[in-house]
Amino acid sequence: MSAAGSVTAIAHANIALAKYWGKADAASNMPAVPSLSLTLAALRSTTTASADPGLDTDEITLDGAPATGRARERVVRLLDELRALTHSGARLRVRSHNDFPTAAGLASSASGFAALALAGAHALGTPLPPATLSAVARRASASAARSLFGGFVALRLGAESAEPVLDGAAWPLAMVIAVTASGPKSVSSTDGMGHTRATSPYYPAWVAAAPALFAEVERAVLARDLEALGAATEQSALMMHASMFAARPALVYLTPATLRAMERVRALRGAGTPAFHTMDAGPHVKVLCEARAAEAVAAALGAVEGVERVLVSGIGPAAHLVEGAG
Ligand code: DP6
Repeated sequence: MSAAGSVTAIAHANIALAKYWGKADAASNMPAVPSLSLTLAALRSTTTASADPGLDTDEITLDGAPATGRARERVVRLLDELRALTHSGARLRVRSHNDFPTAAGLASSASGFAALALAGAHALGTPLPPATLSAVARRASASAARSLFGGFVALRLGAESAEPVLDGAAWPLAMVIAVTASGPKSVSSTDGMGHTRATSPYYPAWVAAAPALFAEVERAVLARDLEALGAATEQSALMMHASMFAARPALVYLTPATLRAMERVRALRGAGTPAFHTMDAGPHVKVLCEARAAEAVAAALGAVEGVERVLVSGIGPAAHLVEGAG
């Protein structure tokens, strides 16, 4: 067992084109459907971890504040798994921050857990292969498995780890994120998918349809066919939201501003700009388009009533270390 000093890792957020929504097994956090995502350059989590022999519990700071409750438990559980894999008993001091507004409801768990897995393993003195780190991250939050890798990334049905499908450099796409006004406090993805599974009569239909949509998304990515990718991406998100709408009580993340932004995307398309929308467990609209169209798409979305700000992102790289002292 060795302590390797202080290590900093960066991981990027990802947005699913073929969505993950629902668990086959909650204990192992195994998704009920395959998913495929795009890693985003502009949204990053930076996590520093160091082993400290003076600590008898992990000391975790998230965005400047000590982690408590469920957030802390999820981090400690991931670190316990790393300790088991690296045969280390060391406690870690962990500091993590996001360079994007988590308060705005943009997903942070994916990049956060991916960066934590990478920094934590190194701080415990045993680098682990990306596939192992991806499996560790998946058990904390399944979308985090995908943030270990850059470009287009698949988490196949029944797989422990995610895997890269196409390098970002091979296809210069962009994602424009329209941050809409937040409504009442949102239900977490974990709770929302559990509620959908338990109460929505459309959930089985979603689970049955998702593999074919995933295959369509993957084929379109490999063929670099934006029209086909966009059509399958929109259907995946809307089918996922349809399953939530049919839950009892209904789970509705979409707001009037979401619908207006979606409508603007369809109008852009009607006017000849290939642009396609997707929404996660929140009211924001993420728009897939060619990199050269991103500024025009951003301007159009920025003019939509209820859109508070617009972020433009290119395709991001795999999780990586930025410094290590040891
Ligand atoms: C709508 O990965 O946050 O963003 O595994 O319970 O932590 P847990 O869920 P999480 O769910 C992400 C759901 C989604 C779609 C997606 O990213 O595929």
